[in-house]
Amino acid sequence: MPPFSQFDSSGRLRHLITLDGLSDEQIRELLDRAQHYLAPRGSIPVRSRDLEGTTIANIFNEPSTRTRSSFELAGLRLGADVLNLEIQLSSRVKGETVLDTIHTLESMAVDVFVIRDAEPGITQFVAEHVYDHVSVLSAGEAHLTHPTQGLLDALTILRHKGGFRDLSVAVVGDVKHSRVARSAYHIFTALRVGELRIVAPEALMPPSGEMPDAVRFHSIEEGIAHCDVVMMLRVQRERMAQAAIPDPHDYHARWGLTASRLQLARPDAIVMHPGPMNREVEISSEVADGPRSVIREQVINGVAVRMAVLDTVISNRRKQGDNR
Ligand code: NCD
Repeated sequence: MPPFSQFDSSGRLRHLITLDGLSDEQIRELLDRAQHYLAPRGSIPVRSRDLEGTTIANIFNEPSTRTRSSFELAGLRLGADVLNLEIQLSSRVKGETVLDTIHTLESMAVDVFVIRDAEPGITQFVAEHVYDHVSVLSAGEAHLTHPTQGLLDALTILRHKGGFRDLSVAVVGDVKHSRVARSAYHIFTALRVGELRIVAPEALMPPSGEMPDAVRFHSIEEGIAHCDVVMMLRVQRERMAQAAIPDPHDYHARWGLTASRLQLARPDAIVMHPGPMNREVEISSEVADGPRSVIREQVINGVAVRMAVLDTVISNRRKQGDNR
């Protein structure tokens, strides 16, 4: 079997499993496309029939609020049929293998699988086994990838700061267990962010050697000083042994983003968080709901980015079909 690629034989994006390996240009194309799907707040969301006749299956095997609803709305707003498989109610709990589930849905003419799962490698595995015309998108895999989150984070920064190269961006908190941080690392290095910092207690730092182009800080005060963007992360309790989970009060005292700590960043710094937030743990409500927070805009941008990704893989498939 040839080595796995996210791209089709013409070099166009077919699957989106990771942002690792996407070029600056490919990312900017996706961000440009996403901007077309943004509408002023309160107006009717942008819609089209571009995906009419196609079917998207959301298969979420881990909890999700934002990612799942935004993939669903993205598909519906482009005119696709959208199927949400409740994994707890599916035959997987009866012992059916993942591939049997996927092939069953393929027989119902699914064109795009959107998969969230705690098992490393599963999205690529599925992508290697689907029909040629089918695409697989990661909606968050283990601690490893969350590519549409990386794209929506980049879009949010672009809209506030106009670019990336002069920025200092701090990713703060449980970097070790965070797929959001890994996708952020991939996209910010591809976009050549001026300075990328990872800021975490020793126990929540990724192993040395990972994220080689980021500067490591072991104190939040030093880590966010003079930054343009402060991206906070949730402590991923579900990916830790019970004994390793930090006490929420202690964590807030040493690592929480409070209004007084935020003063250390640049006066026009923006505050991001992928959600779900644990208020008064990694972030205070005062900051989360304050004037520098762009957390709700991240959600808006999430729908637009997912529309752009769906539209891209389906239109690439049509182009590829023309070549066949
Ligand atoms: C994140 C996730 O599930 O990876 N949430 C999200 O998709 N917006 C972050 C988290 O769970 O902490």
